[in-house]
Amino acid sequence: MKLPIKVDITNAAPEVASLDGVLDELNAANKALKEGTCPGADFTGWLKPDAIVPDSELSRVKAAAERLRPSTDVMLVIGIGGSYLGSRAVIEALAEDPEKVMYLGCNTSGRYFNAVKKKLAGKRVAVNVISKSGTTLEPGVAFRLVRKLDNCSIKEILVTTDARKGALLEIAKKDGYETFTVPDNVGGRYSVLSSVGLLPIAYAGIDIDALVAGATECAKACDAESVETNPAYRYAGVRNLLYRGGKSVEILASFEPCFHYFAEWWKQLYAESEGKDGKGIFTASADFTTDLHSIGQFIQDGTRIFAETFVVFEDESSDCVVPEDKENIDKLNYVAGKDMNYVSDVAYRATAKAHRDGGVPNITIRLASLDERTIGAMIYFFEKACGLSAGLTGVNAFNQPGVEAYKKNMREIFGAE
Ligand code: PA5
Repeated sequence: MKLPIKVDITNAAPEVASLDGVLDELNAANKALKEGTCPGADFTGWLKPDAIVPDSELSRVKAAAERLRPSTDVMLVIGIGGSYLGSRAVIEALAEDPEKVMYLGCNTSGRYFNAVKKKLAGKRVAVNVISKSGTTLEPGVAFRLVRKLDNCSIKEILVTTDARKGALLEIAKKDGYETFTVPDNVGGRYSVLSSVGLLPIAYAGIDIDALVAGATECAKACDAESVETNPAYRYAGVRNLLYRGGKSVEILASFEPCFHYFAEWWKQLYAESEGKDGKGIFTASADFTTDLHSIGQFIQDGTRIFAETFVVFEDESSDCVVPEDKENIDKLNYVAGKDMNYVSDVAYRATAKAHRDGGVPNITIRLASLDERTIGAMIYFFEKACGLSAGLTGVNAFNQPGVEAYKKNMREIFGAE
């Protein structure tokens, strides 16, 4: 089957005209990932997407989703970072009713908690609390608060955590909650295709088999030793050459509002994997055309530190066509009769050219469609390119030592033991 992802690097020239110069480094990084000789090699279980979740657990994931979808109104996902961003990315992009899933434990705001609590009033609620360590403050505190909620009916609590250890596992055992596993060899931000992501995604009515199949197909393409046919090689190669040329910030930009959380997931994946030892590309995102009327000014014309990656969908028509207006007072009849997907495509082409001309080299990732298979492929593509990219930068893609600093200070301020 044809891979639904293409990486177009035309607009990265003249800074990057060819990727041939990084092929050897990419091959070395790929070999180190596959042979388990890279730093953090114990956390490369995501490399084989169809082997992350054992069949018996996958059946339990599907059974829980099927049981809870008709018997509850909302699933409340409690988690932070890699424990919720992957599922939210997929749900917001694909679910018919993304609001059937709500999120807590991803911040310390009481105001946010109260707003979610208000939305839960009178609802039948399934709770999925997710934490690999089982000791993270934000989801831990939210879980305490949720267990005391008295304005809704909590039908079931499902726990996704380490299979053998941690406070969350202990609570689950004590209170008899069904548990799902965060695999030992998969870190939070690479865990969307484990039960961490698949359970909320399945609850949202998304076909998780197609998602994993899309990732599995992409895994083959992302193994080829070629900067021409391997999309992960192309993307990792070009972004690193741009970085070496001084582009220290990469903006992921899309023209689809439902892609917003996918960009949030991408930001975490790359920033937590690469931003260490004084190195790495800072990841930012933009929702176009909305942001063309705000940060677009800076991207076009401000400090020249940016590279940009567009994600575009080659969709058919949207059935939303700009009407003709005989009076044409707004002088917009030049777009009359055009489908909004075409208008978006023109906006993308105009922006990519303007930013290129303004000194922002850009990459375009073209996706055949917006569906489970393509999103699954894109998850794998970005994960694999991230692993390769960290290899090129010379950092461990699978740890996050910098995250500990604020946690340590919080414990000190609270006077915790
Ligand atoms: O990618 C990661 O490892 C992190 O973002 C974690 O997912 C995040 O810190 C939450 O950790 P935990 O699942 O242990 O609560």
